[in-house]
Amino acid sequence: GLKKKEVNVLCLGLDNSGKTTIINQLKPSNAQTQDIVPTIGFSIEKFKTSSLSFTVFDMSGQGRYRNLWEHYYKEGQAIIFVIDSSDKLRMVVAKEELDTLLNHPDIKHRRMPILFFANKMDLREALSSVKVSQLLCLENIKDKPWHICASDAVKGEGLQEGVDWLQDQIR
Ligand code: GTP
Ligand code: MG
Repeated sequence: GLKKKEVNVLCLGLDNSGKTTIINQLKPSNAQTQDIVPTIGFSIEKFKTSSLSFTVFDMSGQGRYRNLWEHYYKEGQAIIFVIDSSDKLRMVVAKEELDTLLNHPDIKHRRMPILFFANKMDLREALSSVKVSQLLCLENIKDKPWHICASDAVKGEGLQEGVDWLQDQIR
């Protein structure tokens, strides 16, 4: 059959935001794991959509590993940035990491689509995706296509909409 186009995606965001849970849900059910543990360093995962074959760098969000992120920026063609919508205290930390990312020389002047997941929308204290978008000042991102989706990675809700958007951005 036709060979799908290969795309490298960086999955970034603070620890405990749900990155690994999201990527796990995107994999075919026979490749999914049951027990998800905090990522050490990073992990390379693969999943396919109708036209693309994604290789994901699922990075650890723990403070001590965040300095690893930048070593993979050159390889990435798109970014999935995950936010724990219920973690109001660390929203400012998420914004700092996002701003550092956007200002990095390997990211800054490239047209790299960024898909944001405002994750954990199932939690009562979760902020809406509009509120998360405001707190992260996403409207200031002018040089890259971006999109934000509310998601519940445990149930797998909101993920497909995001991945459909991402697929449309890659050509
Ligand atoms: P690091 O690898 O440490 O950077 O974390 P991570 O971003 O990969 O988070 P991970 O996927 O390991 O999820 C952290 C915890 O949040 C786990 O207990 C998940 O089950 C839980 N979790 C992930 N997504 C959701 C969600 O949408 N809703 C709820 N309620 N819990 C979630
Ligand atoms: Mg992880």
